[in-house]
Amino acid sequence: MTRRSPVLSVRGLSVRFLMPGGRRVAAVTDARFEVAAGECLALIGESGCGKSVLAGALLGLLPANAQTAGHAHLGDLDLLTADERTLARTVRGRLVGLVPQSPAAHLTPVRTVRSQLAETVAALTGVRGRAALRSAGEAAAARAAFPADHLDRHPHQLSGGLAQRAATALALVGDAPLLLADEPTTGLDRDLVDRTVDELRRHVDAPDGAGGAGRALLMITHDLAAAERIADRIAVMYAGRIVELTDASTFFGSPGPRHPYSRGLLRALPERDFSPIPGMPPELGDLPEGCAFAARCDRATGACAALPQMTDRVACHHPYPHPYPAEGSHA
Ligand SMILES: Nc1ncnc2c1ncn2[C@@H]1O[C@H](COP(=O)(O)OP(=O)(O)OP(=O)(O)O)[C@@H](O)[C@H]1O
Ligand code: SF4
Ligand SMILES: [Mg+2]
Repeated sequence: MTRRSPVLSVRGLSVRFLMPGGRRVAAVTDARFEVAAGECLALIGESGCGKSVLAGALLGLLPANAQTAGHAHLGDLDLLTADERTLARTVRGRLVGLVPQSPAAHLTPVRTVRSQLAETVAALTGVRGRAALRSAGEAAAARAAFPADHLDRHPHQLSGGLAQRAATALALVGDAPLLLADEPTTGLDRDLVDRTVDELRRHVDAPDGAGGAGRALLMITHDLAAAERIADRIAVMYAGRIVELTDASTFFGSPGPRHPYSRGLLRALPERDFSPIPGMPPELGDLPEGCAFAARCDRATGACAALPQMTDRVACHHPYPHPYPAEGSHA
């Protein structure tokens, strides 16, 4: 299988928060990855490692004390240097559909789902006129499997699963080639998690995405089972850096990931060893010069006082030694 050309190409993305007293918080450092049409890349890692900051950087939604460097190309546009007008008019909704973490908070509480869909359709598409907006809104709801007989409800009248579908319907209106889902399954029970991510996968595979090739999905999640269910590739983030980036089949299957942190994440799963990684991640305002995982790593040596570079999809001086299969060789 040859990999399709990327929808999103991120190179050297770093975000620093400038704090009072001159302190700098290194929330994201030198992130590099791509997501292709018809592909889901899951970004995983412990709380506070920089996942949402990375998403915020792509959408131009970081606070004023954030300094961003690097490139994030979506077609010809660099999301990191685009001005607010471009981000508001052509990026959010049109080029990047955001599936939010907390749909109930994302939806406007005092308006029905129908009116929010009609407003979004009017803002993002050429559709005009009451009847046309109504039927375009209904079509958008149907695409996200949101039931037509719930369109006149307010967000608080929806279950968690239906609120998530309403938010997904809004994210799909602009037919964006890239979907960005930040913890799309928070607070849902297992069954709803499975259904929600299966629906996201359906939108990745749907031929109505970019050029008939489906959409690209960057899914940020704590939920490794959800990632295993729908992701093609896994990016593991630790203390602001992507430390491993590999095929999902390699990561979850045999021989498994190569980075000690990735292996720790898997071992912590209840259905595996259920043994948490000892210790805590370092403060992002006070990172060590070498490998940030060293204090928690049972493979650390003196070499780890130097920062490991990403080589063969893993950034570690002593990765688990099995070589990866050739990229994209999975079915
Ligand atoms: N405005 C800000 N000013 C300073 N530091 C910030 C700011 N926003 C986020 N941070 C810091 O950036 C780091 C990364 O935060 P982020 O929200 O991206 O984590 P996350 O990986 O999404 O975590 P979670 O899994 O809990 O959602 C955290 O240490 C956080 O404290
Ligand atoms: S570089 Fe060293 S400390 Fe860091 S994960 Fe690899 S072995 Fe562990
Ligand atoms: Mg987050």
